[in-house]
Amino acid sequence: LTRPRLFSGIQPTNDSLHLGNYLGALANWVPLQAEYDAIYSVVDLHAITLPQEPAVLRHRTRVTAAQFLAAGIDPVRSIVFCQSHVPEHAELAWVLSCITGFGEASRMTQFKDKASREGTDGSGVGLFTYPILQAADILLYDADAVPVGEDQRQHLELSRDLAQRFNHRFGETFVVPRPHIVKETAKIADLQNPEKKMSKSLGGSGCLDLLDDPKASAKKIRSAVTDAGREIAFDPENKPGVSNLLTILSALSGTDVPTLVSKFEGAGYGDLKKEVAEAYLGFVEPFQARVEELMTDEQALDDILADGARRARALAAPKLAEAYDKVGF
Ligand code: ADP
Ligand code: NA
Repeated sequence: LTRPRLFSGIQPTNDSLHLGNYLGALANWVPLQAEYDAIYSVVDLHAITLPQEPAVLRHRTRVTAAQFLAAGIDPVRSIVFCQSHVPEHAELAWVLSCITGFGEASRMTQFKDKASREGTDGSGVGLFTYPILQAADILLYDADAVPVGEDQRQHLELSRDLAQRFNHRFGETFVVPRPHIVKETAKIADLQNPEKKMSKSLGGSGCLDLLDDPKASAKKIRSAVTDAGREIAFDPENKPGVSNLLTILSALSGTDVPTLVSKFEGAGYGDLKKEVAEAYLGFVEPFQARVEELMTDEQALDDILADGARRARALAAPKLAEAYDKVGF
């Protein structure tokens, strides 16, 4: 293997991914397959940091994998697998948790934010140690690069610290991963609250779920919040709704924003929304057809995931064995 290695994952916490997940993650993962030996995981161990219904989780894991494939992740060229199929993730996470400081883990802002909003009484300890499992995901594969959004930067920093600490204490074992910040990563905003990012947790008419009825989604786009002005300009500060629609159209059509802005000179918001809806339908209809096809042959999908797990384990098992040996097991 001469190409650098890359790891990324998405939690199977919903049936449908949304357009933000697609444009912010999956659509970037596809071209990265040409540069990297890419490993893409449906991270179901992470999903159970919040309560999940077993049968629902099992379905969501499959349908999330199907969406990876429908988006263009090639399971032959890349490794596509389900995290729980590779026990080394949990095993390495334990070792790493023993070299993570309690204060260090407590400083993770994602946990702090959640704890301050909702308290910790109802949460499992897994929600607290989650970034350590994330470090194990990355370090097991000697991943050089991890595509991350701003919100995951601190967790990647922990992965780097843990790799360096382990190497220092026990001898050179892990590659220290670097963040791969995808240039111009589309940050997709909620259609109704364009100052917030599109998210499942906001849900509702501002969130475009990829597996929803396309006609209903087109309607959501036509009802997107814009602003009182008339001019189609890219100005995220003062025109977040219009700018978000331009970002979406640009990402879906491959046309850059300035070109779109000059194209829409003199046109109205309705024209822009109409074109965004058309571009979205042009993408989502074949996407849904591919997901449906993958979901009708459950055995074939399970075979793909089993093959991915076998190939992932072939990398993870010797790495864990090396770490165990260094620790004194
Ligand atoms: P959600 O916020 O809906 O819970 P996740 O946090 O599970 O989504 O994110 C999964 C992946 O999708 C991550 O790589 C994240 O950066 C990306 N992502 C999520 N929402 C957006 C968005 N609105 N715009 C761009 N990328 C996003
Ligand atoms: Na999230």
